[in-house]
Amino acid sequence: MKKIIIDTDPGIDDAIALCYAFAHPGLDVLALTTIYGNVATELATENALRLCELNQHSIPVATGAAQPLQIDPNPVADFVHGKNGFGEVILPAPSLSASTLTAAEKIVDLIHQHPNEVTLVAVGPLTNLALALELSPDITELVSEVVIMGGAFHCDGNITPHAEANLWGDPHAGKKVFNAKWPITVHGLDVTYKIRMSAHYLDELAQSQPTIGGFLRDAAQFYIEFYQRQHNFNGCCPHDLLALSYVTHPEWYTLESGSLDVITEGESIGKTTINTADKSNKSIATNVNSDALLKDYKTTLLQGKSA
Ligand code: BDR
Ligand code: CA
Repeated sequence: MKKIIIDTDPGIDDAIALCYAFAHPGLDVLALTTIYGNVATELATENALRLCELNQHSIPVATGAAQPLQIDPNPVADFVHGKNGFGEVILPAPSLSASTLTAAEKIVDLIHQHPNEVTLVAVGPLTNLALALELSPDITELVSEVVIMGGAFHCDGNITPHAEANLWGDPHAGKKVFNAKWPITVHGLDVTYKIRMSAHYLDELAQSQPTIGGFLRDAAQFYIEFYQRQHNFNGCCPHDLLALSYVTHPEWYTLESGSLDVITEGESIGKTTINTADKSNKSIATNVNSDALLKDYKTTLLQGKSA
């Protein structure tokens, strides 16, 4: 089993991704760490705990930074995910409580406990990863890989014409994380827009797996309305899922390698770039086997850890 930490701002597509990670027999989720983005950090922690309970998965959840490293906080994305982050679908208040460590401390701790074994997956703004690097720069040598959902390298952004939401959320943290020595694979909008979960697909998921699939289908209604308005499509893009699916099935992805960067000021703030002329241990995904991913998602949720 691959050991992973997921840094997340749940969030409907975060929920879609986390339910996959909890159910997948090849993934050992060591901890969740939380960040603002789709909701404020405090609510992200509550939502992460709620998802742990829904999935009957009792693991540490550590609360992360409340704001970006340098810029003023941007508004949360409640117009995409609803005020409660789950499209106003209510999950019971969590009975589990959060870790006493901060997200950055938890990340450093677990990477030190399991040297060269941990894949760090980040599907929100990158502040916690930047703070973990400050706390313990040696994690770049000790982590197995960093996998990120964020950025828009060869396409337009989704929050401004130039920027994708996670890198726009904390561009300075993004720059630190991209420029650190650890190996990174980034799944930006270039590839995440290629996966579409239709309303019909989510209905089937709910029928086959009423508890978890049913919650995801119901929560996704709000998200689907956003896609109907913005993209004229009766479904949604489960952006964050691609980072997890890459960990379980890297062979489904086409990658491009090069050095990565983020613009930290001006009109293009949050814009991500790749220089493919540079030799680098960083890559972005440019394509994915959509049929295989969508089939795997359903099977994984249906069979859970016994798959
Ligand atoms: C990213 O931003 C958030 O709204 C989603 O959860 C995803 O991580 C997509 O741009
Ligand atoms: Ca997210």
